[in-house]
Amino acid sequence: MSQNATLEHSAFLRATRQEPGDRVPVWFMRQAGRSLPEYKEVRGPGTILNAIQDAERAAEITLQPTRRYDVDAAILFSDIVTPVFAVGFGIDITPGVGPTCEQPFQSADDLGRLRPMDPDNDLSFQTEAVEKLVSELTIPLIGFAGGPFTLASYLVEGKPSRDYAKVKALMMSDPDLWHRLCDRLADLAIGTLQNQVAAGASAVQLFDSWAGALRPEHYREYVQPHSTKILAAMKDLGVPRIHFGINTGELLPQIAEAGAEVVGVDWRTPLSAARERTGGHVALQGNLDPALILAPWEVLEKEVRRVLADNNGHPGHIFNLGHGVLPQADPDQLARVVDLVHAEGTARGPVSQGASA
Ligand code: CP3
Repeated sequence: MSQNATLEHSAFLRATRQEPGDRVPVWFMRQAGRSLPEYKEVRGPGTILNAIQDAERAAEITLQPTRRYDVDAAILFSDIVTPVFAVGFGIDITPGVGPTCEQPFQSADDLGRLRPMDPDNDLSFQTEAVEKLVSELTIPLIGFAGGPFTLASYLVEGKPSRDYAKVKALMMSDPDLWHRLCDRLADLAIGTLQNQVAAGASAVQLFDSWAGALRPEHYREYVQPHSTKILAAMKDLGVPRIHFGINTGELLPQIAEAGAEVVGVDWRTPLSAARERTGGHVALQGNLDPALILAPWEVLEKEVRRVLADNNGHPGHIFNLGHGVLPQADPDQLARVVDLVHAEGTARGPVSQGASA
C-alpha cells in the first residue's frame, strides 16, 4: 500500500470521517514548542518567525513531539501570522507577548500591505518543510491557517488584546472596510492551506481562536462568510477540514455550518452538548482543559476519563486539549494522557443509545 493509502486508514483520518476504529486518536494543539526542552535547544535566537522560515529547523521542531508522544497526528511548526508576514504586512512575534505590528491596520490604505500571495516565492520555506515531513512521518501531518477574526484582531489591535475593542469598532463602524480586510485575509489563508496540501499535508485546521469574543449574530454577519469561503476553497482537495475557536459554545451551530468536517470544542462545553449544538453532522475535537495537565495524575486521569465518557464511544472524536499546551506543562503528563486515551478510548459507536447503536 502506498503511504497515502496507509494514512487514509489511520485512526486520525478515520475519526474525521466518523468511522469506527481501533482507538480514539489524540494529538495536542501547540504540542510542538515551548513546553519541550528539546525545542528550546533548537529554536535559536530571534523571533519564532526565523525558526519557521528555516525549513530544516521547522521540520525538526514538528517531529519533536512525535518522538516523545504516541500521537496520531503531527502539526506543522508555523504560526497563524506566517502568510501575513510573508507578504510583507509588517508583523512580528514578540517573545512572551505574541503577534505585534508597529503600524496596525487602520484604513483602506493599509489594504495595500496585504498583497496577493505568490506561494512559489513567498512560501518556499513552508513547501520544503512539509515535503520533508511527509517523507519522514508515518502519521498524518496537519496544516493550518488563522481564521479571519483572529488574524484581523492582531492586525487592527497591533498586539494581543483582552477586549478586542479596536477590531470590533472597525467591524461595526466600517463594515465595508472590514469585509475587504477579511476577504484579503481569507485569500491569504486559502493560499497557505492549498500550498500545504499540495506539498502533502493530510488535513487542515482553521484556527479562529478568538472568534468567541463575538455574539452569534455578529459572528454570522461579519466572520462566517469569510470562513465559509476559506473552507469551500479547500473542499475539493480531498483532505478533512477542522475549524476551531475557544469560547465558542454559543457559536458552535454557526461554526458547524461554515463547512468543516471536524469542529474543535474548548473545555467549557461538554462534548455531548457540542454534539447536539452541531446537529451531529460533524466530528468533534477536544476537549480537556489544558490547565489540568498541571494537576496531579490522579486528578488528570479522572478528567481524561470524563472527556471519553462524555463522548460515549462516538466514532467521530479526536481527543485533544480544549486549547493549546501551556508552556509550563510537563511533557511526561502529556505522554501519560496519550497512553490512557489509547488504552481506554474505544471508537466503536455510541454504547448507550439503544440496541441498534
Ligand atoms: O500547535 C503546534 O505545535 C504548532 C505550532 C503553532 C504555533 N502557533 C507556534 C508558536 C501553532 C498551531 C500556532 C497557532 C497560533 N499562533 C494561534 C492559534 C492557536 C491558539 O493558540 O489559539 C495563535 C492565536 C497564534 C498567535 C501567537 N503566536 C501567540 C498568541 C503566541 C504566544 C506568544 C507567547 O510567547 O506567549 C505566538 C507565539 C508562538 N507560536 C510560539 C510558538 C511555539 C511561542 C513563541 C516562541 O517560541 O518564541
